[in-house]
Amino acid sequence: MTTLTTAPLAPLLDRLFEQADAASAATASAVSDLSDEEQGRLMRSKTDYRDFYGRMKDIPLAVSRETGALLYMLARSCGARTIVEFGTSLGISTLHLAAALRDNGGGHLITSEFEPSKVARARDNLAAGGLIDLVEIREGDALQTLSVDLPETVDLLLLDGAKALYPEILSLLESRLRPGAFIVADNADYSPDYLARVRSPGKGYMSTPFAEDVELSMRIN
Ligand SMILES: C[S@@+](CC[C@H](N)C(=O)[O-])C[C@H]1O[C@@H](n2cnc3c(N)ncnc32)[C@H](O)[C@@H]1O
Repeated sequence: MTTLTTAPLAPLLDRLFEQADAASAATASAVSDLSDEEQGRLMRSKTDYRDFYGRMKDIPLAVSRETGALLYMLARSCGARTIVEFGTSLGISTLHLAAALRDNGGGHLITSEFEPSKVARARDNLAAGGLIDLVEIREGDALQTLSVDLPETVDLLLLDGAKALYPEILSLLESRLRPGAFIVADNADYSPDYLARVRSPGKGYMSTPFAEDVELSMRIN
């Protein structure tokens, strides 16, 4: 038995994923006044992401169930004790990662979110899942909140906030990633700079696309 597959977390995640599936229509309507080009531009912007995500402040935008399971398994298999997450939203990915920490015997997960209402909902979900004691939610722009007070070493990094900032967030964390640390980047196709970096020989990573839209990388040294 695992924390992920038993109560209270398993039924909570079923409910949250159902809500996330039901909200997918709302995602389209939140940006329906924008052309496809403008949506693409905002997704890739290093400056206008706040407006873009402000439109989505009531929408979960969660990882898929498959990516959630992958996160749990990766964190378990590398024996993760310290995890950093960029982009908390309602905490669905955070719940998977914190469950792995619990089953690894404990640890610390730092996650970052700038929408205050999402921070409050994530906190409630983590409390309902019995995992809040393992998680520190840093409210504000991750460019600031993840630039200070980092753990000495990080075992796993999840990138799931504004896609254009993946290279900057990786730079903030890079010196803390231990050899063998995993970096999971959701929807990394929107961040070509990031993909070029982690796939480039000699930059210290081994990297491969995984499933539909996930880039899985490992720190080599
Ligand atoms: C795709 S959602 C995260 C989903 C979450 N990982 C999950 O699976 O449940 C991205 C979230 O990142 C937040 N975000 C985007 N850019 C951010 C930034 N620079 N700093 C903090 N939060 C950010 C957005 O408000 C949004 O809630």
